[in-house]
Amino acid sequence: MALFQKKADYQVDMDHLPQHIAIIMDGNGRWAKKRGLPRTAGHAAGAETFRTVATFAKDIGLQYLTVYAFSTENWKRPPEEVAAIMSLLEKYLHEAIGRMARDKVKMAFFGDLSPLAPKLQTLCHETEEISKGYDGCQVNICLNYGGRDEVMRAAMAYAQACVEGRADPNHLTQEQFGNWLYSAGIPDPDLIIRPSGEQRISNFLLWQCAYAEFYYTDVLWPDFSKDELLKAIASYQNRSRRYGGI
Ligand code: FPP
Repeated sequence: MALFQKKADYQVDMDHLPQHIAIIMDGNGRWAKKRGLPRTAGHAAGAETFRTVATFAKDIGLQYLTVYAFSTENWKRPPEEVAAIMSLLEKYLHEAIGRMARDKVKMAFFGDLSPLAPKLQTLCHETEEISKGYDGCQVNICLNYGGRDEVMRAAMAYAQACVEGRADPNHLTQEQFGNWLYSAGIPDPDLIIRPSGEQRISNFLLWQCAYAEFYYTDVLWPDFSKDELLKAIASYQNRSRRYGGI
């Protein structure tokens, strides 16, 4: 059994990692405020943390990493903050395209990309297209994503399929419904991490979180690290998942 042990703090069984980890990257604004910096500096630091964590996830052999980058509600933020987040994403995707063939990281986006700037939409589609055959870690970026919005869109698409005779409304399983979601074909998250001391789901992966384990920490996202990820995994490995059984 390959163990990763950090002092006496925690121990991770690297042979039994969760298959899918999802993260609400929260606390960028507070991180910046504590330093007397603009909120946009917090997002820039958060984007750095994302790079570190995504690279580490790939290196340790995690299969799926899903991050909440921009919610359907985040449009309410000041335009300069929205623009800064979009520009960080654009920068990241350019880098990712340059590295994908080497890293074999597969990228996907959960959310309605249509309100995004056309060049950002093109970049998203390009990264998905280039990496669709890769079999390394799959990184899903939730962008203009909302859990309720996702379920509603799935319901509408399914209803339309019923109207057109492509689906039978009397026979629908949970598994089949899952195939109408952005996450079609991807296993549900085993572990959902929310840093920054908040303990809410905030419209994240509402359908998929049914049996997820939750891990909260007071660390703000820009201060989150490889070590913090391992700590979260160690906590996950100490839990007993019963899926409603005993
Ligand atoms: C929540 O913190 C964070 C966001 C809404 C944006 C997350 C975006 C990034 C980390 C950068 C771009 C992403 C990638 C994938 C390159 P908050 O602003 O709500 O923090 P607060 O609660 O402290 O104000």
